[in-house]
Amino acid sequence: MTVPAFVEARRSIRAFSAEPVARDALDGLVAAACFAPAPHHSRPWRFVVVDSPDGKAALAAGMGARWRGDLTCDGVDPARVDELVDASLRKITGAPALVLGCLTWNGLDRYPDETRQQAEWGMALLSLGAAVENLMLAAAEAGLATCWVAAPIFCPEAARDALALPTDWLPQALVLVGHPDPAYVARRRPPVPLDELRTHR
Ligand SMILES: Cc1cc2nc3c(=O)[nH]c(=O)nc-3n(C[C@H](O)[C@H](O)[C@H](O)COP(=O)(O)O)c2cc1C
Repeated sequence: MTVPAFVEARRSIRAFSAEPVARDALDGLVAAACFAPAPHHSRPWRFVVVDSPDGKAALAAGMGARWRGDLTCDGVDPARVDELVDASLRKITGAPALVLGCLTWNGLDRYPDETRQQAEWGMALLSLGAAVENLMLAAAEAGLATCWVAAPIFCPEAARDALALPTDWLPQALVLVGHPDPAYVARRRPPVPLDELRTHR
């Protein structure tokens, strides 16, 4: 049993050339995302393609302001806060395009108790993860570079409001998309210790 080459070929690439990514190509990646499995035939995901300078700046600023507040509350040194937030702004605005993966309750089941309600949301989030992986695999296949950025899951409302999205769209996953910077070298990928990571019963 070997791992298919297209699975192994996908890497997180954090540096891009200046070449823009065509809207059609970005829409194609979103279409690939939408082939993901989802709980009980729902499609709880919404995707926002952000390729305008204003959109990228607004999203980065909205999430950055929230992160600045969190870091300050954590007691992080103000100079370090500036450094971290500036680096995050540069990372997000420096990518040729962004795809923001959101979840909505539309199509999901509602339960009267918190435990099952959280499980339902957890299922939707798993499904969004599968959609994001589809998107990144499709990008790799097309010769595009991607990197998943965690930020929105920590501040979904700030990300939503920065882009004036509908109130029920809750951003959870951000993917940077671009043509790879040919000078970028991906981090060494450690071998998979299969015997530690799986068991048989
Ligand atoms: C949910 C999630 C959040 C991530 N957030 C970030 C992030 O904020 N910044 C970043 O540079 N990489 C982020 N990554 C990418 C991981 O660092 C990367 O997938 C991991 O190091 C394995 O490398 P590979 O993707 O090249 O195989 C994230 C990945 C996942 C799945």
